[in-house]
Amino acid sequence: MKTSIPSLFLLTILVSIVCAAWGEGEEDSFPTFTTLPVPQTLPFDYLSLSFDYYQQRCPQLEQIIDQKLKHWFAKDHTLAPSLLRLHFHDCFVTGCDASILLNHEGSERSAGASRTLRGFEVIDDIKAEVEKSCPAIVSCTDILTAATRDATVLLGGPYWRVPYGRKDSTTSNVKDAEMLPVGHESVTTLLELFQSKGLNLVDLVVLSGAHTIGRTSCGAIQNRVYQGLNGTYGMPDPPIDDRYADYLQRKCRCGGDEYVDLDATTPTTFDSQFYANLERKMGLLSTDQRLYSDSRTLPIVNALIQTPSLFRHQFAVSMVRLANIQVLSGPHEAGEIRTNCNFVNSY
Ligand code: HEM
Repeated sequence: MKTSIPSLFLLTILVSIVCAAWGEGEEDSFPTFTTLPVPQTLPFDYLSLSFDYYQQRCPQLEQIIDQKLKHWFAKDHTLAPSLLRLHFHDCFVTGCDASILLNHEGSERSAGASRTLRGFEVIDDIKAEVEKSCPAIVSCTDILTAATRDATVLLGGPYWRVPYGRKDSTTSNVKDAEMLPVGHESVTTLLELFQSKGLNLVDLVVLSGAHTIGRTSCGAIQNRVYQGLNGTYGMPDPPIDDRYADYLQRKCRCGGDEYVDLDATTPTTFDSQFYANLERKMGLLSTDQRLYSDSRTLPIVNALIQTPSLFRHQFAVSMVRLANIQVLSGPHEAGEIRTNCNFVNSY
């Protein structure tokens, strides 16, 4: 991945803003897969993952994932963004451990926040194929992580190398998924949540940029569609462009199960236009629009608008950091290699 001098310069400024605002110390010197500096210390679990983990154990893994994804996305391209969201929901609840894939009563999957999650069948299909060549070797969470990277690339986004060696959880609890943000939160709430996962302000702004693709159900944006609900969630809804609000009302007139593109201008392209939309008061989720009105996040948003390549580079870096949250890896950690992603092995 190439990095231009202006991008590096801007990112350095950006990181300084974050550090100054939040009192974070040094930049981490851990080598990354791009030449960009990593703005905050990576979780140390990272050290037990490796790029060549499956090189001997399952050399054909990445090829299987790539072929399966191309097959699925040719049938339904809307599944690609859904995988990114699935990975986010997995990693933010008890770490990247495929707990979101467990399918039993009272699992995370049955939470309100999971209601519109999609893409489970894609991971199941990949897993079944992987099991044929490499039985009981590759974890569901590693498959979901790699599939998310490949989905991003297929959408036109950046490539990054995935370190492997995560294990799958043996439990999943609906209550744990209740902390997931639903789009009405304040920047402070989101930032605290991200920090509790070892991520920072830059990660928050840059990963929110995943909303450059994909869609939301009308049910999730009632406050944006009907500005009359102002303050319903305990704080005023951020400003919205009049014509855009009008469009949303027409689009959502049939009820909560209709869908609207998260990026109103370039919905199927993985680009930084998402941030330019915020400048025009066309952020679909309140949480996204607030990134433009908060003094901590605004400088980062502006940098991403001014230098689109910065978004691609930093998205790759932040996605690696997301995929390292509380991983179960190494011989001493609990966890297993599930043979079916829906159930624990002792099921
Ligand atoms: C910052 C906090 C975040 C909030 C509040 C949030 C909220 C939401 C909401 C409300 C939806 C629509 C759900 C529905 O249809 O009912 C959504 C969709 C989506 N989110 Fe997020 N999200 C956040 C972070 C992330 C992150 C970190 C990623 C990935 C790196 C991500 C990727 C996506 C994608 C790709 C979609 C579209 C899914 C599809 O088309 O099926 N989100 N998000």
